[in-house]
Amino acid sequence: MAREPGVWRVVVVTLLFLVVSQTVNGLGVNWGTISVNPLPPGYVVKMLQANGIKKVKLFDAAYDVIRALAGTDIEVMVAAPNNLLATLAGDPKAAEDWVKANVTSYNFKGGANIRWVAVGNEPFLTAYEGMYLNTTLPALRNIVNALAKAGQANTVRTIIPFNFDILNGAVKPSETRFKVEYLDQIRPMLQIFNSTGAPFSVNLYPFISKYQSPDFPLDYAFFEGSTSAVTDGTFIYKNALDASLDALISALTAEGYPAMEILLGEIGWPTDGNEFANPTLAGKYNQQLINHLQSKVGTPLRPNTFTEFYMFGLLDENIKSILPGPFERHWGMFYYDGVAKYPLDLAAGTGAPPQTIKNAEFPPYMSAQYCVLNENADRTNLSQNVAFACSRTDCTPLYPGSSCGGLSAVQNASYSFNSYFQFQNQDPNACNFQGLGRITTENPSVGNCRFIIGLTKYTPQTRPTSGTAAQSGILVLTIFSLLVSSFRFWLDSAL
Ligand SMILES: *[C@@H]1O[C@H](CO)[C@@H](O)[C@H](O)[C@H]1NC(C)=O
Ligand SMILES: *[C@@H]1O[C@H](CO)[C@@H](O)[C@H](O)[C@H]1NC(C)=O
Ligand SMILES: *[C@@H]1O[C@H](CO)[C@@H](O)[C@H](O)[C@H]1NC(C)=O
Ligand SMILES: *[C@@H]1O[C@H](CO)[C@@H](O)[C@H](O)[C@H]1NC(C)=O
Ligand SMILES: *[C@@H]1O[C@H](CO)[C@@H](O)[C@H](O)[C@H]1NC(C)=O
Repeated sequence: MAREPGVWRVVVVTLLFLVVSQTVNGLGVNWGTISVNPLPPGYVVKMLQANGIKKVKLFDAAYDVIRALAGTDIEVMVAAPNNLLATLAGDPKAAEDWVKANVTSYNFKGGANIRWVAVGNEPFLTAYEGMYLNTTLPALRNIVNALAKAGQANTVRTIIPFNFDILNGAVKPSETRFKVEYLDQIRPMLQIFNSTGAPFSVNLYPFISKYQSPDFPLDYAFFEGSTSAVTDGTFIYKNALDASLDALISALTAEGYPAMEILLGEIGWPTDGNEFANPTLAGKYNQQLINHLQSKVGTPLRPNTFTEFYMFGLLDENIKSILPGPFERHWGMFYYDGVAKYPLDLAAGTGAPPQTIKNAEFPPYMSAQYCVLNENADRTNLSQNVAFACSRTDCTPLYPGSSCGGLSAVQNASYSFNSYFQFQNQDPNACNFQGLGRITTENPSVGNCRFIIGLTKYTPQTRPTSGTAAQSGILVLTIFSLLVSSFRFWLDSAL
């Protein structure tokens, strides 16, 4: 999904305890952080470990996030966001500095396991109107050269997470090609990927297909498409994923790269903001997807192969731009607070025993209090106050077909007041609304409509000024963790 710049507020938390983790075959997750008071990185990393998740894809290279990942064996993909492409394209030295600050400075014992760099994010998306068309390729070239110069050519691979509509949209996979207008950019990119052993990366969204054309058959999205199979020569495609992968393989083959590997940079299903976005459908889609990919059945063109994939996403991001649609803030497998939205067996397809998705432990909630409409107040100004709240918080669960779409006008007002109050760190003044609001400890949630309690205010730790300082920052942290662990051990033994 396109990512607009958002407000960043994160809390510093130390990762105190090592968690013995189970292995999951291949599954990675996209960890986006465009949220007010997100689950702090230390909690997220513990949650990843408890779930045996070994690969994360980031949308930039935020110091506090990478710092939390340091000392784990989790494979990290850092990213140079679109707004850096022009700088990286314009000057090889800028790319070298980027690599030094965001890759090699973490490259020490106890540092982070950075294995991938993503250059841009869906830079050729039509919505960008060609803004990144000229800078993506030179930025890629400069980053690849900078990594080689830093001695990372064999350890860190570079990709571009493309949107799927760089392809021509042919009905038959075998007839799919790259769009002609991108060829002069794509061809040299393919050469670079091939010579560096990097895969070609795309993001895939069957939900968006459904959203854009309501007659898109759900069974075809959900790996059970018999009503609407696509016949292509001797092949019959019964699911959208295989057809999309083979479409890309056909396009790569036409360019002379029949064996180039594919990396699914983002794939998933949202849970709110649309009639087809709910935990039941999302849980079903993600389970089928994980099972299909991890069982390595492959596609008609590449049977018995594994495709690397990153779920989109890990956690909901409550202030992402909703330009793509009201579902945009609800792609997480977990809600904002690390509570899993649906049961999911993360080991499905591997032959290993089921491994049920686990919630984050002890999320740092604020007090259990809510802001609701004071029903005795004069409602003359109610609609203005609801509009005010909704312009500064996430009201997408109130949209028709959403989790709170069936609320009464009174409950609706309470929902918006409460969300605003939580976004404002439960500041009592943020529950005034010209006398219309009142604070309560009674949970106003109704049915599937969950009134939130926010997480504590979080300010991200920024990087110390030099690389060495970044390193010692992580070392101090590690030593502190060890001390705390020893203390806990001592405490446990003493009791
Ligand atoms: C490293 O990444 C961060 C976060 O994306 C960015 O703000 C910073 O400019 C990068 N460092 C350099 C030297 O480019
Ligand atoms: C990209 O380059 C082309 C050809 O040089 C030029 O016409 C176009 O304006 C450039 N686009 C941007 C966004 O700079
Ligand atoms: C891709 O790379 C392989 C191995 O390095 C090489 O043999 C092949 O010729 C390359 N393909 C193209 C089309 O450049
Ligand atoms: C409604 O808002 C107006 C303008 O802010 C204000 O003057 C008026 O006192 C408000 N009425 C009530 C009942 O709060
Ligand atoms: C509830 O709020 C949403 C978003 O502001 C609005 O679209 C909807 O019409 C409201 N419903 C009622 C019953 O007031």
